[in-house]
Order: sequence, then C-alpha cells, then structure tokens
Amino acid sequence: MSGPRHVAIIMDGNGRWAQMRNRPRLFGHHAGARRVRQIVESCPPNGVKYLTIFAFSTENWKRTQVEVSGLMKLFQRYITKEARTLAEAGVRVRFIGDRVRLNDKLVELMDSLESTTEKNNKLHLTIALNYGGRDEVARATKRLAQDVKSGNLDPDDVDEETLPKYLDTYVLPDPDLVIRTSGEARISNFLLWQSAYAEYEFVDTLWPDFTAEEFGALTSKYANRDRRFGGVKV
Ligand code: IPE
Ligand code: IPE
Ligand code: MG
Repeated sequence: MSGPRHVAIIMDGNGRWAQMRNRPRLFGHHAGARRVRQIVESCPPNGVKYLTIFAFSTENWKRTQVEVSGLMKLFQRYITKEARTLAEAGVRVRFIGDRVRLNDKLVELMDSLESTTEKNNKLHLTIALNYGGRDEVARATKRLAQDVKSGNLDPDDVDEETLPKYLDTYVLPDPDLVIRTSGEARISNFLLWQSAYAEYEFVDTLWPDFTAEEFGALTSKYANRDRRFGGVKV
C-alpha cells in the first residue's frame, strides 16, 4: 500500500515538555508552534497531500485564563509570522472549528490567510481551532435541520453522503492516519466522524520534540498496514 494521503495530528504534550524544564506551560506551547513548520515541510516529500492539526479543542477553554489567552495570542502571532512562508510554499490553509467564540482580530487573520492561500495546492493544511468533533456534528445537524425546515432537503435523502457535506471538513478527504503525541491513547473529540476508518499511531514523544524523521517513519509504517474497511482481504 502507498503512504497516507491525509495525516491528522493531535499535537499533545506541550505542557509536560515545559514542566520538565521548570518553565510555564506557555513556553511549551511556543516550542510546539515552532515544530509545525518542519512537519508541514516534510509532508510533500512523504507524499502527504493533506495535513490536519489539532491546535485548540472546544474543551480547552477549561484551562486557566492565562493559558487560554496566551494560546489565543500565540495563534495570532503564528498566523502573522507564518503567513508568507506558507503562501510561498504553495500551502493552502483552512481552519475548522467554531469561530463564534474566537476574537474578531484572530478570525480576521484566519479569513485572510484562507483567502491569500486559496489558489495553492501543494499541501492542504487544516488547522483545528476551537474544534470539537461533537460540536461539529451538532452544528452540522443544526444546519441540516434548517435545510429540512426551509424545504431544501428531504429527510429521506439524509444518508452517509449527505451528512458530511455539513461538516467543517466537507472539502477534505477522510484522514488515513491519525497521530497523537505524548503517550495518551485517546482521541479527545478529534475528527470523530471522519476518522471512523483511520489508522492510529500513539507515540510517546512530546509534541515539541516530534521530528520530521519520526513523522517520516510513521508514514512509512502506515504503508505496510492492511486496511480492510470491514471487508476481507482477497
Ligand atoms: C497540547 O499540549 C496543546 C493544547 C492542548 C493546546 P497540552 O497543553 O495538552 O500539553 P500537556 O498534555 O498538558 O502536556
Ligand atoms: C487534545 O489535547 C487537544 C489538542 C491537542 C489541541 P488535550 O490535552 O486537550 O486532551 P486531553 O485533555 O488530554 O484529553
Ligand atoms: Mg494535553
């Protein structure tokens, strides 16, 4: 089998990475953000066409105000700093998640990065920001119900093809490989519908230590897996 076309990553372990160095959690988040570029750059040589990264979950608002506002500032800084590099590298950037709770300045930067990169197609980078799989399905269902109510959708036509059209990821293929760093073996509400048949890799490396080499090794390992999708290998 060939390598994964779409890799999704739960970038976890920034807090512990900082803690091990007796530094504040935000120090780990900054180190984690710096790691993203290397992984983005290693997608094309590994045949990865879609990369989706989990940056902030709908549950992460439970953290202290200092951490949450520090992360929001970091996202603004990251977009401002990386916009040009991403655009020049042919990366098309998209954001998934609920924008309603994000501040206007951040949403403005997100919209602008999406539009300045919309003609690129070397790599499709999707950043999940204020994203939760259940929240996404609930928001999708709400819009689907509105379409039924307004007469644009017949309830009899609702099936496995229709529902994902309402998800934030409607233009993306399903992930082939989901990687989670930091040793936790859970998906924490990430791409619930989309990852139904994904292969998973849980690695102990903390996100700020995750290298292009490790990424490459995981994509090669994927190529040896036997995905059956419920069928029988012939
Ligand atoms: C992941 O690292 C980044 C976010 C969730 C924003 P964590 O902050 O969860 O790091 P740990 O799990 O506490 O080490
Ligand atoms: C998942 O990590 C979310 C992101 C990486 C953005 P968490 O650290 O929030 O997940 P839990 O709390 O360990 O499940
Ligand atoms: Mg964590």
